[in-house]
Amino acid sequence: MTRLHESRIISNEAFGGGYRMLLLEAPGVVASARPGQFVHLRIPNVEPSALRRPFSICDAKDGVLSILYKSVGRGTEAMGDLRAGDGVNIMGPIGNGFPSPSNDSLPLLVAGGYGVAPLYFLAKNCTKKGILFAGGRAAQDVLLIDFFRAIGWETQICTDDGSLGVKGFVTAALDLWQSLHSATKIEIFACGPEGMLAAVDERAIKWGAKAWISLDRRMGCAVGACLGCVQKMRRTMESGGEETYLARVCMDGPVFESGTIVWGN
Ligand SMILES: Cc1cc2nc3c(=O)[nH]c(=O)nc-3n(C[C@H](O)[C@H](O)[C@H](O)COP(=O)(O)OP(=O)(O)OC[C@H]3O[C@@H](n4cnc5c(N)ncnc54)[C@H](O)[C@@H]3O)c2cc1C
Ligand code: FES
Repeated sequence: MTRLHESRIISNEAFGGGYRMLLLEAPGVVASARPGQFVHLRIPNVEPSALRRPFSICDAKDGVLSILYKSVGRGTEAMGDLRAGDGVNIMGPIGNGFPSPSNDSLPLLVAGGYGVAPLYFLAKNCTKKGILFAGGRAAQDVLLIDFFRAIGWETQICTDDGSLGVKGFVTAALDLWQSLHSATKIEIFACGPEGMLAAVDERAIKWGAKAWISLDRRMGCAVGACLGCVQKMRRTMESGGEETYLARVCMDGPVFESGTIVWGN
């Protein structure tokens, strides 16, 4: 059963570009947190009837839970006003998380914007160093690069406007890398905007690579009851044919294997 935890804010530092890093004293969450899981936060300074908001676990160590968030609306704007010592109720950790990267493959992480958050937690827990492909609209949307470099990961950066790294989509950098290393066995882990995830999925299928895709959906209950987060999926039946079904991103995901998501539904 998903647990509720009372926590205290340690800090809520601005990162620039509307992003902040929220550190929470939450030993109960940290104890069982796995990369790719998320927490559902009750934001204390919006009305009590407001829905909780979901955020990926960016790091979890020594009893401290880290969340990297972007201010996009009422809830996240209110979060920006929270101060050290304020209380936050946390539901979680929730979801399946990423599987452990295979020992026989090179892990490639593909991130768009704040999608880098769960991938950092994954990289920190990965015994094998790989490559982070990080993209964003502009330099301010490419986050945690120094964090990845500090733990020995190679990074490739792309921005839509060319203000940092190579101008263009992160998938173009991924294509170029793959064309130069097509003999290397890779495993891809991706989190970011839907268009990027669909493009990564398409490439993984084409290249015959295993890939894991973390979906971002608006959420209500986050316990599988409201069906507000459903995603159309495909699977192979025992007869060999294919059927589609609806998965709940909160309980069945947020991470799904490449080739199983029906995009655009
Ligand atoms: C599993 C999961 C992990 C997430 N991890 C992070 C994270 O690490 N950092 C982070 O900043 N955000 C993350 N999000 C998104 C975050 O939950 C939303 O940005 C937040 O709930 C918006 O709340 P709000 O009240 O500020 O915005 P609202 O006022 O509710 O909405 C403002 C705008 O954001 C859009 N929006 C709201 N929720 C989502 C969503 N889930 N996905 C895409 N667009 C949305 C709305 O359509 C609207 O255009 C995650 C979402 C999920 C489902
Ligand atoms: S958010 Fe309610 S079922 Fe997923």
